[in-house]
Amino acid sequence: MSLKPPLRLGIVGTGSITLRGLLPHLSMDDVKDKVKVTAVCDPVFERSQAAAQKFGVRSAYASFEDMLEADEFDAVSIASPIGLHFEQGKLAIEHSKHVHFNKSMTTTVAEASELIALAKKNEVKLVASPGELINPRLQAIRKLINGGALGTLAWAVTGSSFGRYHEEEASVRQGDTPLSNINPAWYFRKPGGGPLYDMTVYGLHALTAVLGPAKRVTAFSGVRLKEREFMGQLLPTDMDDQTLMVLDFGNAFFSFVYGVAAGSLPNLGRPLIYGTKGVINGGMLNDKVIDYPRREVAEKKGYAASLPHVTGLHEDVEEAHVFEDVMQLVDWVLEDKPSLATAEHARHVIDIIESAYRSAETGQAQDLGSSFEVKGL
Ligand SMILES: NC(=O)c1ccc[n+]([C@@H]2O[C@H](COP(=O)([O-])OP(=O)(O)OC[C@H]3O[C@@H](n4cnc5c(N)ncnc54)[C@H](O)[C@@H]3O)[C@@H](O)[C@H]2O)c1
Repeated sequence: MSLKPPLRLGIVGTGSITLRGLLPHLSMDDVKDKVKVTAVCDPVFERSQAAAQKFGVRSAYASFEDMLEADEFDAVSIASPIGLHFEQGKLAIEHSKHVHFNKSMTTTVAEASELIALAKKNEVKLVASPGELINPRLQAIRKLINGGALGTLAWAVTGSSFGRYHEEEASVRQGDTPLSNINPAWYFRKPGGGPLYDMTVYGLHALTAVLGPAKRVTAFSGVRLKEREFMGQLLPTDMDDQTLMVLDFGNAFFSFVYGVAAGSLPNLGRPLIYGTKGVINGGMLNDKVIDYPRREVAEKKGYAASLPHVTGLHEDVEEAHVFEDVMQLVDWVLEDKPSLATAEHARHVIDIIESAYRSAETGQAQDLGSSFEVKGL
């Protein structure tokens, strides 16, 4: 079915990313001919109502099922806790909706494969965050490495740390209104919590975008902080908050990957890659700045500011990379422009994470069964 602009978008979950990223960007004037948010839902109904009112969204619901029944949208961004993404994504696809998944798309490969197959059957498009491959800096790094700028690759490192990031997202978590009192407890619980699915996922996407799929993984993992203090409460943490893994890309080329409770390398976990001719570290190849389109704006305003849809006022609004990923879906649906932020790439990263946990549990290295191709670069 071909759709006419503006694409009608629903949003599932009106928490931090919706309030700080999705709705501020998608309610800006310059996108209104292409996409319009027509419905939002959240089980905290006052939150979905307040979000709808603040950002001029026509309809607010207390559940995704009610929102689906009203049928006022063609595509949906799933912005709920990660452990809910699979069931909600499946429901959306079964209703023939195109879907943008905030990271991570699912928590298991089997779930990811089921969604990919169902989307194919129902002829809907899936875009899965984080769309690291869309970033011009990462594309330049990929080109440099493929062109031999690092010589023979030796090893790489990436990862992220929880720190106290989610407890301290002050504008949405530390107030006393429905839009400012969002409890981050799920980030520390099973299923879907932990730093790998939420944070290390960026570095893993970037690493595999540049180096291609990994072949094997081995890991140690566990819970280090048994509880976290948030606004005077103690939040229980039953999901691993410390995972150290080693990825095998074949031919004795390895990468060290971490997702930990505290302490991290610079560059938001984007990979450091070493070879016989030197190192790529952030935006530098050895002591030279790596050039790419709109580098100046990214240097001034941050990594996401050179993304293709992040222009004008979007450059200054938080979480622009998530807006970019939604616009990738919009362009794919309306103009048949496939995105590089594919569900297959996301599935491979989910395979790495799920297999790392299995390795830690069993004490055995795990073969990775999934793969992905980069088309269009
Ligand atoms: N917070 C960030 O910095 C950030 C950045 C980028 C992407 N993300 C991603 O966005 C997603 C949401 O994260 P967040 O930080 O906004 O979470 P959050 O905890 O701030 O908000 C989640 C919202 O989902 C709602 N919710 C719970 N159950 C639901 C259900 N069954 N249906 C619909 N909504 C439901 C909650 O009431 C809450 O309002 C995650 O995938 C996360 O990885 C978060």
